[in-house]
Formats: sequence, structure tokens, C-alpha cells
Amino acid sequence: MGKLPVFMRDEAHKEQRRRLAVLLAQSRRDMEAAMLACLDDIAPVFRDTSGEIDLMSALAAPLWSAMTDVILSGRDDCDWMIESVSELPDLMNPALSLRRRKALDGMLKEVSEKAPDLLFTAMPLLVLGQRSFTGSIAASLHQVAERNSGERWCDIAFPETLGYSVIESAYREVLTDTEVAGCPHSAGTRLRCVISDRAYSDEFNIKNLYGFGSHLCLGKQISQFVWFHIGEMLATSEMRVRPRCAIHCAFPAIQHADRVQNRTVPDD
Ligand code: HEM
Repeated sequence: MGKLPVFMRDEAHKEQRRRLAVLLAQSRRDMEAAMLACLDDIAPVFRDTSGEIDLMSALAAPLWSAMTDVILSGRDDCDWMIESVSELPDLMNPALSLRRRKALDGMLKEVSEKAPDLLFTAMPLLVLGQRSFTGSIAASLHQVAERNSGERWCDIAFPETLGYSVIESAYREVLTDTEVAGCPHSAGTRLRCVISDRAYSDEFNIKNLYGFGSHLCLGKQISQFVWFHIGEMLATSEMRVRPRCAIHCAFPAIQHADRVQNRTVPDD
């Protein structure tokens, strides 16, 4: 996990960040084309489906899968890795059991033995991008539905940026003894900094959605591209929308009412 840029600093971090930025820049056109093709496939679901749509499986997961294909393109020996990679983000969960951590460490070891070059390139992108992308896209769209319940997609003023992130905190190390809001922190302490919370204002959450400073998210550009085109896709849908569960649930879903009869779905 030490190869993940979020845990690095100084020159080592700059070098790793540069490597990932180059990789993303090189694949930018392919990635955008893959996202548009995927949204074309998904569009009928949002135009024609009456009933429940699971935003994770119908929208966020296929987009991520298409992005994974591009990130790993040219490496058709990597199929074995995709499943492991989808589990690796668990390593960042501070409440992970020792048993699970050992199992995931084993997976990382397998990757480092079978495809050592990916440890510095595709792997950090896949580990850091997966949950933030899928979770935040699904949750942000659910938030739009929640705030416009009963409206037709085509009538909704679709927000310019995602409004809700599942990345609620960033970890930072205190470099010199300091004090924040009257609370002393000594050098070397690791701090969990909350960057998004429902108790904060929309403006604050949106401003910090992709982090800030030297660790600003490298996937911001492609995520914003996708979000913009999701908005375009929904602008052609006359379906009425209603959220099915609270926004913080693991599987955000929405319900569509029949557009022909213009009726809304009754409350549960
Ligand atoms: C809506 C989607 C996304 C959100 C909300 C998001 C959020 C974040 C946040 C808050 C950070 C900063 C973490 C910190 O400071 O510790 C970050 C870093 C990062 N993200 Fe994203 N991310 C998203 C999508 C992606 C995607 C799609 C990729 C890759 C394809 C990606 C790759 C990265 C990388 C490599 C970093 C580390 C940057 C560094 O430490 O220098 N992210 N992301």
C-alpha cells in the first residue's frame, strides 16, 4: 500500500504522481470514448425503464468496468487481477480484521510477483479510483433524485458537478509540532481529516470533493467528464424519478414512474 500516492510524500510522491498522471493523460481519449460508448449502452435503461433502477449495478459499475479495461489495456494477461483489485480498497479500511488484512496482503503479493510493473501504474489507479468513482457517481445521482423527487429527468437542472462523495476523509501526517483550533498535535501523528460530511454545507463538500493540495485527485477530470455526460443522457429522458432509499445506503436505487401516464410512484 506504500505505493499508493495518498500515503506518500515529498519527492517519492511527486515521482509516483507524475507517473500516474502520464498514464492517465495517455489514455484520456480512449477513456473518454469508452465512457461515451458505455453511456450509450446504458441510456435506454434511463429512457425506457419503469420501476426500480439500482444505480450501482446499472450505471456506476459498468462505467467503472469500462474504465478498468482502458487502464489495463494492452495487458490482456491481467484478467486474473481484476477481481483481486476490486477487493484491495478494503485495505484502506482502518477497521479491517487481521485475517482479512492478511488475505488482502496475499493478493497484493501475488500481483507484485506476477505483474510487478502494474504496482506503480495501473494498480494505484484501480485501487484509489474504484470505490470513490462508483460510490460517488451513484450517490451523487441519487442525491439529484432525492432533491428533485417526482420531476422528469429532462426538466431537472442537472448540477455541474457531483454533489456527494463517499470519500469522507483524508489521512495526513503532522510534520512539525503544531496546534489546530486549540488542540496540540505532535510531529509524526497521523490525523484523519474529514473532508466531506452531510453536516457541512453543499459548497464545502463540493469544493473538497476531490481533495486538495498536492494530493488532489488524479481522476477528477475523467469523473467530471462522465458526470457531465450522465447529465446529457438524462436530459433526453422523460421518466419521472423518485429515490428509493436514504442517500447513505450502500446500494442507491431510484424508481421511475411511467412517463406516458405522467404519474408518480406512490410512497412506500
Ligand atoms: C467521483 C469520483 C472520485 C472522487 C470523489 C475522488 C476523490 C478523491 C479524493 C478526495 C482524493 C484525495 C485523497 C487524499 O488526499 O488522501 C483522491 C485522490 C486520488 N484519486 Fe480520486 N476520486 C474519484 C475518482 C478517481 C478516479 C476515477 C481515479 C482513477 C482512475 C482516481 C484516482 C486517484 C488518485 C491516483 C489519487 C491520489 C492522488 C495523490 O495522492 O497524489 N480517483 N480522490
